[in-house]
Amino acid sequence: MTGQIQMPAVDDDSVRKAAASAANVAYSIPSISDQEKSELKQRIKDQLAAKDAVLVAHYYVDADIQELAEESGGYVSDSLDMARFGNEHAASTLLVAGVRFMGETAKILNPEKRIIMPDLAAECSLDINCPVDEFSAFCDAHPDYTVVVYANTSAAVKARADWMVTSGIAVDVITHLVERGEKIIWAPDRHLGSYIKKLSGADILLWQGSCVVHDEFRAQELARMKVEYPDAAVLVHPESPAAVVDLADVVSSTTGLIKAAAEMNNSRFIVATDNGIFYKMKQAAPNKIFIEAPSGGDGATCQSCAHCPWMAMNNLRNLAEVLETDANEIHIDPAIQAKAIKPIQRLLDFSAKK
Ligand code: 13P
Ligand code: SF4
Repeated sequence: MTGQIQMPAVDDDSVRKAAASAANVAYSIPSISDQEKSELKQRIKDQLAAKDAVLVAHYYVDADIQELAEESGGYVSDSLDMARFGNEHAASTLLVAGVRFMGETAKILNPEKRIIMPDLAAECSLDINCPVDEFSAFCDAHPDYTVVVYANTSAAVKARADWMVTSGIAVDVITHLVERGEKIIWAPDRHLGSYIKKLSGADILLWQGSCVVHDEFRAQELARMKVEYPDAAVLVHPESPAAVVDLADVVSSTTGLIKAAAEMNNSRFIVATDNGIFYKMKQAAPNKIFIEAPSGGDGATCQSCAHCPWMAMNNLRNLAEVLETDANEIHIDPAIQAKAIKPIQRLLDFSAKK
């Protein structure tokens, strides 16, 4: 049974089409002039104060939104820390700039708070690729396995899980479960799952999802880039293919990669993750140079080109609009919320003990 592969119910082609359609939406948005930018920022700040709201943004959203979150007393971080911050902050409304699962996680943890998002169509290929019915059937077929799901899943999938993890803590949680002699179902990212399996030696059944951004990083072209920049350190997110991970100097979560950029002595870095992270990397290491790892291969046209099409759906205009119109609130069925909070709380308790 070890290592048995379950194919996803949704084929890669339809996920890529969904990503391409998100990219069409995101990239057709007219650019914002400096004057409009400062007016929008002021409107958003006023609304945040008037609505007792706080802006929580992911590292992959537009730099202007990350800057605004920092200027307005909000927070920029990875998905785990976004959840922690939203949970601990006193504001009654959380404006979540990221993708839908981040808003849903915030709502599951804070059912009494109002959670709003700039665009509810901002999804994630991992989430799309793991429909709850197929996933539940897979879990039912392996009742003696502990179900561990990545944060990048729907509320309903989380409700079916024993644990939720993020990339920052996945290896620690799985190692803990291995020590307890547990066998694991991992979903949905196959590359992260394989990476964890290799590090922990766990008996893992892998769901075959992937991230449209990280899946496109290319090992051959990266190897060539390393020759071109022999002084550069290679930083890789573990949602990337194994051949790319094998070329890394550091493999880590988004927060871990920013830390590495700040702490390593290299002055140049090749980075295999969403390029939205460059805002924080440059803030953490202002005098260093960051280069996007190659995606899409030689001569090929990359689809996502190191930027998540769904993260790109967040912009200053829809942030202002959602605050002013009270639209795009996240709602979760209370029965699903009651179940989905358990694997998330388990993770928060585990990380607090660490
Ligand atoms: P983090 O959990 O590191 O924030 O990553 C989320 C994500 O979507 C990575 O692609
Ligand atoms: Fe999902 Fe990939 Fe976008 Fe992250 S970067 S939200 S994993 S599609």
